[in-house]
Amino acid sequence: MTILITGGAGFIGSHVVRLFVEKYPNDHIINLDSLTYAGNLENLADIENKPNYTFVKGDITNEVLINELFGKFKFESVIHLAAESHVDRSIKDPLAFVKTNIIGTVNLLNAAKKVWEGNFENTLFYHISTDEVYGTLGETGLFTETTAYDPNSPYSASKASSDHFVRAYGETYGLPYVISNCSNNYGPNQFPEKLIPLFINNIINNKPLPVYGDGNYTRDWLFVKDHAKAIDLVFHKGKQGETYNIGGFNEWKNIDLVKLLCRLMDDKLNREKGSSEKLITYVKDRPGHDLRYAIDASKINKELEWSPSVTFEEGLSKTIDWYLDNEGWLRNVTSGAYQRYYEKQYGKQ
Ligand code: NAD
Ligand code: DAU
Repeated sequence: MTILITGGAGFIGSHVVRLFVEKYPNDHIINLDSLTYAGNLENLADIENKPNYTFVKGDITNEVLINELFGKFKFESVIHLAAESHVDRSIKDPLAFVKTNIIGTVNLLNAAKKVWEGNFENTLFYHISTDEVYGTLGETGLFTETTAYDPNSPYSASKASSDHFVRAYGETYGLPYVISNCSNNYGPNQFPEKLIPLFINNIINNKPLPVYGDGNYTRDWLFVKDHAKAIDLVFHKGKQGETYNIGGFNEWKNIDLVKLLCRLMDDKLNREKGSSEKLITYVKDRPGHDLRYAIDASKINKELEWSPSVTFEEGLSKTIDWYLDNEGWLRNVTSGAYQRYYEKQYGKQ
């Protein structure tokens, strides 16, 4: 099988590409990524010479290129992860999210439709989405696959829109598709703009830990390799036209998570107990900040027998170890443009 994976140089994409390249040596994996600030080929250095792997640098919004690639490689399926993925950036520049997340997705759908139409057998467009499309929960309840879409940020609105387009191509043109909506991922290779790697990096450098609002916001955390395994299952065994929610069964209030992270970091860095917690600084809240996300993952659990394989404490400990062992990676991704982003978002420190 020839599989196009988009966004494979990013955080989740790189784990998915590695899993597929190693587990399915008879499949040809083509990784298409434009290498934005979030894409990094260092993430895939260990598999870049495998015979069943090809990297193509390119933008999913480039219609000519996408059509050319479909013609050249004859993709039978697509796993679409490429996206602008950070909520705070979407608040500052919504149009970038419309371009990549909506127009880029429709561009891929058009190319797939053009090449596959007339014989959809053995083809699949798998769209990787987020639980943020469901909006926010109150103190109780869980997002299920039938929860109504109610996105609150430009990021989640763009992802909701792309989900709708995927469904619409299924209904209107018969394009075989599947969608999964996952909760917050964490793990190695995550760009240090997201809560966990940002705070790990700041603790290493003794910089303030900017907690938005009162810190009483809740997220449901999943180790990235468990998400990649779920994607493998949905891709190979999921039912066409279905949505699968993927989550960690693992809710944490931000402030409790940050305190746990601080304790683990003190330990690993041989610093005095309590020293990282002193870096916690409450800052202005994120506009439109969703109070709580929590996924009901019972459908994927029952139908595809998926469940997370690592506990949060194990996953977090492995994640911290990875960042401590890969300070070169951290240094590379936090130079130049990162500094400018940081000052714009958090002020000079
Ligand atoms: P990321 O920001 O780490 O990586 C995104 C990748 O897409 C990068 O390699 C980037 O270079 C590439 N990209 C961006 N714009 C592109 C374009 N126009 N053309 C080609 N490539 C482009 O993101 P991530 O956290 O790995 O998320 C991957 C996907 O999973 C996204 O679709 C995101 O919405 C979804 N998701 C993420 C999470 C999470 O917690 N991170 C949770 C659920 C779903
Ligand atoms: O739920 C899935 C989503 O999870 C994905 O679709 C997104 O791509 C991914 O970025 C993530 O979105 P969040 O907005 O939940 O993740 P983030 O790491 O940005 O923030 C997690 C929580 O921490 C959130 O409540 C905001 C808070 N936070 C974040 C940052 C960056 C802070 O308090 N301070 C910070 O500096």
